[in-house]
Amino acid sequence: MTKKDQANESNQTDEIIATPNFIGLLLEVEQDAMAAIETGEKPLDELRIELLGGKSELAKLTKQIRLVPQADRSQVGTVVNEVKQKIEEALAKHTPYKSDARAEEIDVTAPGILPPIGHLHMVTQAINEITRIFERIGFTRVRHPEVDWDWYAFESLNMPPNHPARDEWETFFIDFPGKNRHSGLSRIDSGVVASKSDASPQNDNKKRFNTIVLTPHTSNGQVREMEKGKLPIRMINIAKCYRRQSDVSHVPMFHQFEGLYVDKNVSIAHLKGVLDYFAKQFFGPERKTRIRPFHFQFTEPSFEVDISCGVCLGKARLPNGQGCKLCKDGWLELGGAGMVHPVVLKNGGIDPDTYTGFAFGWGVERTSMMKTNTKLDDIRLLYSNDVRFLEQF
Ligand code: FA5
Repeated sequence: MTKKDQANESNQTDEIIATPNFIGLLLEVEQDAMAAIETGEKPLDELRIELLGGKSELAKLTKQIRLVPQADRSQVGTVVNEVKQKIEEALAKHTPYKSDARAEEIDVTAPGILPPIGHLHMVTQAINEITRIFERIGFTRVRHPEVDWDWYAFESLNMPPNHPARDEWETFFIDFPGKNRHSGLSRIDSGVVASKSDASPQNDNKKRFNTIVLTPHTSNGQVREMEKGKLPIRMINIAKCYRRQSDVSHVPMFHQFEGLYVDKNVSIAHLKGVLDYFAKQFFGPERKTRIRPFHFQFTEPSFEVDISCGVCLGKARLPNGQGCKLCKDGWLELGGAGMVHPVVLKNGGIDPDTYTGFAFGWGVERTSMMKTNTKLDDIRLLYSNDVRFLEQF
């Protein structure tokens, strides 16, 4: 006869149960319960009823506390509660229950759970859209180096070393063995960059190709494209650019798209037509553009192209009365444009008396932010790597 059977019998005869025996019975109940939970043979709900329900061993023993000597009843009651708590904790830990066969049933006909699917970054989407828009009017997407000789980024574009125009580009220079920044280059009257002391082709090359930069603009592709020797040129060069800048409208690494069209009789009217075509395709007919006179060393005449701000819709104020953080005056500068300077055509081996051309260079991020539906007022968010932000676009 087990101790529990003895206890049941004593229950019927209402005999006093010695306190140590009663506590022994409780510990036995606890052990049995733990073993039943551990084997995991029964579903959790069933076990709970069996171990803690009204007909459980524990419930039966609880009813018999009255058979323990009066003085020990509160101590025994504490043990009962502890046993109950331990069983409850063990049951909770085993949820979901490992052998709960019903929970483990697999419905092979149920639809699967789709893994999260990402999408292209907003800037990549813009690059693809820009490429398609220009392809429709015969411009071909090309790639030129993003780490390039100073010659292509500046000198061939009519910006000799130490020319103040270079300040605008806040450039990162790259160190490499044997580099000599002070090459002694200067501009001769024809506009082509050469050394004063010795303009032999070998020395020219040595001096032209002795400084490397992270390209601060995509205009380095202009002379590179001309050097391919194929005319007419209709290129769209999209690449990363680098400048030592960071604020709401500047990031140190950004993208530009550079258009270059060189042919006979290319005029400023063609430039204006292409810019308007792009603005309408990309932003929609409701957005306004404007062209302001400007100065670039590599275009003449030169312009800055602006678009009415997509955050404040050109009003410079937000509906709550606060000033627009992004544009300040209702306009946002997208980039520069102009007719290719004859010196640049010459540096690319093209006769400026026969050919003319236009070029423009806009920031991809700024252009993309200016779409009405983005409402972005800080360009740095694009590169903050926050998926919650990126998922919105
Ligand atoms: C240029 O870079 C000229 N190469 C553009 C050009 C090309 C003029 C061909 C004429 C002919 P600018 O420095 O203004 O110009 O830069 C052009 C655009 O690049 C800016 O208007 C802006 O949209 C974008 N941009 C420039 N710096 C940054 C930056 N740090 N972060 C994000 N976008 C930038």
